[in-house]
Amino acid sequence: MKKNKSILITGANVGLGKEAAKQLALTTETEKIYLGCRNDQKAEQAKKELEALTNKSIFEVIVLDVLNPDSVRNAVRELKNPVDALILNAGGQGGKHPGALTPSGMTNIAATNLLGHVVLVDELIKVGKLNNEVLYVSSEGARGIKGIMKRPSLKTNSVSEFISVLNGSFSEPKLDGSESYGYGYIKYIGTLWASANARKYPQIKFISVSPGNTSGTAGYDNLPLLTKFLFKYIFAPIVMPLIGMIHSLQKGAARYVEVLGNQDLASGDFYASKDGKVTGAMVEQGQIFPDLKNIVFQDNAYEALHSFIK
Ligand SMILES: NC(=O)c1ccc[n+]([C@@H]2O[C@H](COP(=O)([O-])OP(=O)(O)OC[C@H]3O[C@@H](n4cnc5c(N)ncnc54)[C@H](OP(=O)(O)O)[C@@H]3O)[C@@H](O)[C@H]2O)c1
Repeated sequence: MKKNKSILITGANVGLGKEAAKQLALTTETEKIYLGCRNDQKAEQAKKELEALTNKSIFEVIVLDVLNPDSVRNAVRELKNPVDALILNAGGQGGKHPGALTPSGMTNIAATNLLGHVVLVDELIKVGKLNNEVLYVSSEGARGIKGIMKRPSLKTNSVSEFISVLNGSFSEPKLDGSESYGYGYIKYIGTLWASANARKYPQIKFISVSPGNTSGTAGYDNLPLLTKFLFKYIFAPIVMPLIGMIHSLQKGAARYVEVLGNQDLASGDFYASKDGKVTGAMVEQGQIFPDLKNIVFQDNAYEALHSFIK
């Protein structure tokens, strides 16, 4: 069994990435955790807090901005030793202007979840600095959440259709407000891309995982003030737990730990909540949404994403 002694986590200064860094540091196997963050100061602060929480000095900051391919290439160059595992966790709703275009041509929301991660995987593999495993952090939105987010429904799942989602020109079927600039579609494309990688690089294991609907992250911080207040302080901590619609930060991050290095899981698979759920036990999602298993769609997602990388 290959051990994951060193792990690079993107977006590790807060939320699920930071909690996963804490939980993984407390396992006996982990010897080194790289905190891949865009903001040096926030990352150093998180490093101090993680050292205090775990009583371990195994954290190192790697500055990388997933919106900027050159910053990711630079981070790979600076990495002195190969990493055993990579957790592609940075992501979310794309900040205050999710639909605005980045210099790559992808929208902010697409690039935050995908652009730098595609570059990171490609570059690490190219220079032999990735040993064992990649976790792509997806979402139940990638297969739809009843009553909250429609299942991604594309006409062809072609390269050009995926490009239209990534550059924000996709308009049919219309994305409604709850889909927030195509969040579920973007995680769907990311999950297909991870599965394409699993076939392309059989020596490395690629798994997609959703943390489930998780409280205690910074995910609500960019919402308009009233919506942020309602979600962050009323719905998420009080209403949703009562109906089993949300779980704690500890439980969300524990899903990464459950999946990483798990010999029972096959490369290319996607683990998330059971159909209709956003918390609780995880199951393989191909049985819920067979399009995730379509290798033509997977390869199209891979090609569409690479068309944005210069
Ligand atoms: N929370 C949930 O309910 C939930 C459910 C399903 C999936 N997810 C997924 O889980 C992952 C973690 O989300 P979270 O809820 O923990 O969110 P979060 O608390 O908002 O944390 C997001 C992390 O991503 C980083 N990040 C954002 N843009 C970046 C960039 N351009 N370059 C580098 N890092 C960047 C943030 O850094 P800054 O602090 O610098 O902004 C932060 O560290 C995301 O991929 C999200 O889509 C979350």
